[in-house]
Amino acid sequence: MTSGHDPGGGDALKAAEEGRDPQRMLDAVLSLPEHCRRGYAVGRETPGLPSGDGVTTITVYGMGGSGVSGDLVRSLFRERLAIPIDVVKGPVLPEYCQKDTLVVCSSYSGETAETLSCFEEAARRGCRALAISTGGTLAARAEEASIPLVRIPAEVPVPRAALGFLAFGLLGALEAIGIVPPLESEVQHTVRVLADLAGGFRPDADGVTGNRAAALAESIGDRHPVIWGADGIGAVAAGRWKTQMNENAKVAAWASVLPELDHNEVVGWSAGQGERFFVIALRHEEEHPDVAARFPVSLQIASESGAGHEEVHAEGASPLARLLSLIMTGDATSVYLAYLRGVDPTPIEAIDRIKAALAEEGG
Ligand code: PA5
Repeated sequence: MTSGHDPGGGDALKAAEEGRDPQRMLDAVLSLPEHCRRGYAVGRETPGLPSGDGVTTITVYGMGGSGVSGDLVRSLFRERLAIPIDVVKGPVLPEYCQKDTLVVCSSYSGETAETLSCFEEAARRGCRALAISTGGTLAARAEEASIPLVRIPAEVPVPRAALGFLAFGLLGALEAIGIVPPLESEVQHTVRVLADLAGGFRPDADGVTGNRAAALAESIGDRHPVIWGADGIGAVAAGRWKTQMNENAKVAAWASVLPELDHNEVVGWSAGQGERFFVIALRHEEEHPDVAARFPVSLQIASESGAGHEEVHAEGASPLARLLSLIMTGDATSVYLAYLRGVDPTPIEAIDRIKAALAEEGG
């Protein structure tokens, strides 16, 4: 563990008080339990869902914040279902997607070019399609083609703050279609775990351990976060931490997965290389024992190269709760890191610039 910081995250909390979050990203993060509960209900109650009988593959399309829900579902179910789940983050619908493929197109805005292009192609091929969105062009096209829409509320400032709606909307719909088993008690447990966590991440949280997310942000300080997770839910959580660090805190950050990183990245943690980095290892109780055994020695190697490091342990009694607890801790940490760095967590000027440039090129 790195020492030398206020365990309560005092500087990050002071920064929060100074009003560095005009669009209230922290409130959106702390609303995750409620978003999950409501998203699940919307997904389950969506009218006109396709039949799950005879489905041979599930493919989830979505970019950025809207694609994470596919990663999440895949990590939770790939070892439990008899059919494969694929996640595609690009504009091309693979050839295997045909009439018996359930194709889920997820876009918060409903305006993302890659997702719209896959949606059009899935509809053309007669795949069993499903759209998830707040509205926009995707919702309009779904209506035209009589394809069901999980319509989630448009009440957060940006797509990445809608993970609860997007992912649990998808889970609810997959349950109603009969692809995944009934999840109600697991969802309720997850909501309780997240609500407890949210209490500890509020700027006014007190208690002996202080605010863990604010303290982690201070531990990272001006170093680049490198997030490690074990293959499966740990890897998905690590990927989400990385992108939240990028978009909320505006820092270059990286994520890698054990055991793979022990076969390449670990060599790069050579003398002096680690000084500008801070490794956060995301841990949970269901790691494969061979993978769990790799964490201490791998962290030791990173530490000897000069990197700071800390472990974050998942909470909850189910894979869904554990994954969401890791995700919420990362989301809150990224917002406190934004406060510490004096940046507004919400705007994403680089992404907006690229989308505008491509729209201009397209005429
Ligand atoms: O965080 C973001 O804003 C992005 O990663 C978006 O989610 C991504 O660009 C896709 O947009 P949408 O979620 O509206 O499909």
